[in-house]
Amino acid sequence: MSKAFESSLREALEGFKRDGVYKRLNYIDSPQGAVVDMEGRGEVVVLSSNNYLGLSDNPEVIAAGQEALEEYGAGTSSVRFICGTFTVHRELEQACARLVGTQSSLSFVSCWNANEATPGTLLGEQDLVLSDRLNHASIIDGIRLAKAITKCQTGVYEHADLKDLDAKLSAAKDRRFKMVISDGVFSMEGAIADLPGLREVCDKHDAILVVDDSHATGVLGTHGRGPAEHFGMVGKIDIITSTLGKALGGAAGGFVAGSAEVTDYLTQRARPQLFSNAIPATVAASAKKSIEVLEREPQRVELLRQNASYFRQGLIDLGFKPHPGETPIIPVILGETAAAIQMSDKLLDEGVFVTGFGFPVVPQGQARVRCQISAAHTKEHMDRALAAFKKVGEKLKLI
Ligand SMILES: Cc1ncc(COP(=O)(O)O)c(C=O)c1O
Repeated sequence: MSKAFESSLREALEGFKRDGVYKRLNYIDSPQGAVVDMEGRGEVVVLSSNNYLGLSDNPEVIAAGQEALEEYGAGTSSVRFICGTFTVHRELEQACARLVGTQSSLSFVSCWNANEATPGTLLGEQDLVLSDRLNHASIIDGIRLAKAITKCQTGVYEHADLKDLDAKLSAAKDRRFKMVISDGVFSMEGAIADLPGLREVCDKHDAILVVDDSHATGVLGTHGRGPAEHFGMVGKIDIITSTLGKALGGAAGGFVAGSAEVTDYLTQRARPQLFSNAIPATVAASAKKSIEVLEREPQRVELLRQNASYFRQGLIDLGFKPHPGETPIIPVILGETAAAIQMSDKLLDEGVFVTGFGFPVVPQGQARVRCQISAAHTKEHMDRALAAFKKVGEKLKLI
């Protein structure tokens, strides 16, 4: 390896450390859950996982994966159209479509891949794709890739700004197809996208509405069917992408859900589908079981809602000012990146695992610790975490 290359990487890494933005990995020696066994620290309360429904260590979800390992072996050994598709993948895709209320769905190894596949495969040079400024990195990169591959026109509208979206769509009358992509729940704020508003503007301009439900599937709506259920709009979103790596068992994988034509076209043409293996059968079976558990036990979603509201109120009672909202993503804005990282380190010393996020993941001056609540948390876990927030908050003179 080139010495200059290695020393350039080393220098950059030293820079991250100097700037206080170097990420240290914490090693966990237990299943993901409300508490985990962290190397060198013992039991800590987890406030930073996407295990919203507590299904990551659910015995039925684990057993489904184990049975699939016996039934199908380790994996497909090639891409699906070459080597065959396991029946469990078809069953998973039927379950995903049923859950989010679309005709069809197609699974990918991650939602990152699903988002990368969507605009770049479905759009062409005469088309336009517009993205909310705060969309997830996978949507941003998917759009960059779409531009590079297809030469489609791309643009960004200001966060949740329907007037700006309307103006940008009005200025694109010459485009053959117009696509608008928004997170359903914005991961750093916990804010819910205004789907009725987005639908109205998209209808006005005959635009295709794509919503990424990664932080919303299993979270929003009485039955956890996502923002469409939350707003009484099931069946009214053109294309939904989501992950299997958060509420639905937390392993890995993602999907694109929509009409049969959309998923069939992606099956024919999406490069991450055509040139990469499917998710392992074990993962497909665990995710399918997670959907079945959710459908059978929608009370998990209500418990999640109650837990999120208990914890949010607890923070407010302590004197913190969490970002307003109604989802289990509860960010506490602290300002500078170093402050968020310091808070997160001190909370970990008190046995609470919650990650600090700074620039460039969030805008400059809006660094935060982002708390994420799970249906698996008991009041005792949340009270333990709140006691740590009180102690650290007082020490750092934040409250
Ligand atoms: C909104 C959103 N979309 C997509 C992804 C990527 O999901 P996956 O882990 O399945 O690639 C994430 C994960 O952080 C996300 O928050």
